[in-house]
Amino acid sequence: MDDVLQNIMDHAVAVAREAGQVVREALCDEKQRDVMTKSSTVDLVTQTDQRVEHLIIQSVKKKFPTHRFIGEESVAAGEACVLTDDPTWIIDPIDGTTNFVHSFPFVAVSIGFSVDKKIQFGVVYSCLEDKMFTARRVSDQEGQRSIIATEFGSNRETETVEKIFSSLRNILNIPGCVLSAAVNMCLVASGCVEAYYEVGVHVWDVAAGSVIVEEAGGVLMDVEGGPVDLMSRRIVAANNGTVAHIVKEIDAFSPTRDDAP
Ligand code: IPD
Repeated sequence: MDDVLQNIMDHAVAVAREAGQVVREALCDEKQRDVMTKSSTVDLVTQTDQRVEHLIIQSVKKKFPTHRFIGEESVAAGEACVLTDDPTWIIDPIDGTTNFVHSFPFVAVSIGFSVDKKIQFGVVYSCLEDKMFTARRVSDQEGQRSIIATEFGSNRETETVEKIFSSLRNILNIPGCVLSAAVNMCLVASGCVEAYYEVGVHVWDVAAGSVIVEEAGGVLMDVEGGPVDLMSRRIVAANNGTVAHIVKEIDAFSPTRDDAP
């Protein structure tokens, strides 16, 4: 299985680069950054998100016809978001669409690959910085504390916003936000940021980053402690167990699960 997995991962890296090139080109064409909204006025999508997801899925289907997909834009278009034991590509074609729309340079193509419901490898290509983060599942370790990154998600209902701000009040040393969950997780993995948490994120935002954090020695948790469930839309990624205790300060809530019927 190892060589097979490496072959699949190599394809993920190649297609992420190809997708990144499309994203970079689209930045020079305003039409390709025309904004449509999804679940709320801050949940954005562009035709480039859809085009890039199509490109990735078609490329993978040609090479691995039996594999399954969970793609942000396919789910937005009505496809089921169901994780099975089958080999599954979990794709966010542009993680950081808001940044993309504003040409703010933290935009990532995020690809996680799961077998038996476990993420086997992750590829996050921060395409404007031309930084490729990858990891394959191997083992667990620990890291160190100082900066915490967070995001605000795209739900602006009063109760949700209250909880987000309640968590922010409880946590010290909050920096600015980067607006890409995938890039935030790679910052944790590379030691630039010591923790990232979010409630309201989606499986395609964090699938690839999850294995990159763990393989770099980081820890993933649910925001109330305990094991992370990628479909639950709740995550803490941290460089060690101490930082992960920020879970004590988070005013947790439970958004509708990604795999809700
Ligand atoms: C968003 C980013 C952002 C997070 C949002 C996501 P998108 O993904 O990951 O960091 O706060 O919850 O929806 O929409 O740019 O692919």
